[in-house]
Amino acid sequence: MRIIRTRDYQELSRAAARLIAAQVVLKPGCVLGLATGSSPVGAYQQLIAWYKKGDLDFSQVRTVNLDEYVGLAPDHDQSYAYFMRSNLFDHVNIDLSNTNIPDGLAPDAAAECARYDEQIRALGGVDLQLLGIGPNGHIGFNEPDGHFSCGTQQIQLTDSTRQANKRFFASLDDVPTHARTMGVRDILQARRVVMVASGENKAKAVKEAFFGPVTPAMPASILQYHPDFVLVADEAALSLV
Ligand code: GLP
Repeated sequence: MRIIRTRDYQELSRAAARLIAAQVVLKPGCVLGLATGSSPVGAYQQLIAWYKKGDLDFSQVRTVNLDEYVGLAPDHDQSYAYFMRSNLFDHVNIDLSNTNIPDGLAPDAAAECARYDEQIRALGGVDLQLLGIGPNGHIGFNEPDGHFSCGTQQIQLTDSTRQANKRFFASLDDVPTHARTMGVRDILQARRVVMVASGENKAKAVKEAFFGPVTPAMPASILQYHPDFVLVADEAALSLV
């Protein structure tokens, strides 16, 4: 595990964007695993700025996103498909047919999850997986559990995650109860994993996940075993370490 410690969110976003940009420059047709939530937004803005300056080319990049809410259509403004378009895809020269997100509307959950895993395999696996971390240590939507998950699966969101994400919805009742997420094994199979963690409300999760035992009660902790894991965190997120 390597830690890049930054002063603040802005510096964190540039550091994470540099790692992603380096991957795209080294391998223009790379497979990027992308994340949603507020944490990666600054990195996406930096990538867009570099693209607009002519320094980055996304024309051959392929992407797989971590997760999607069940029941939200891609044009719902809180779906992760919509998030990716408005925060990155609509602003760079990526070919939308090269982007992949679990389908939250497909009626057969098991078939959709199997299709998604097959898609990741068909792309040759993920070169760089970007992650945030939930305040309870979740990655993607892999919630604390008695075991680590394997492939893409449909999960029930915990109350704490629904509470944490309700700021994006009109009310708690509007927050979906289920999501489809790449599994922990999928995430570990990425050749490089980069996590962004910012702010005091992530400090406890960062401490427990990376400076405590590896346990499925803290899903991110398994990244301690990944051979190329980079944690990009600001001082506030590292304040308990
Ligand atoms: C959601 C996403 C996660 C993300 C987490 C933290 O639950 N499924 O991928 O890491 O939120 O989000 P934020 O970065 O907004 O704190």
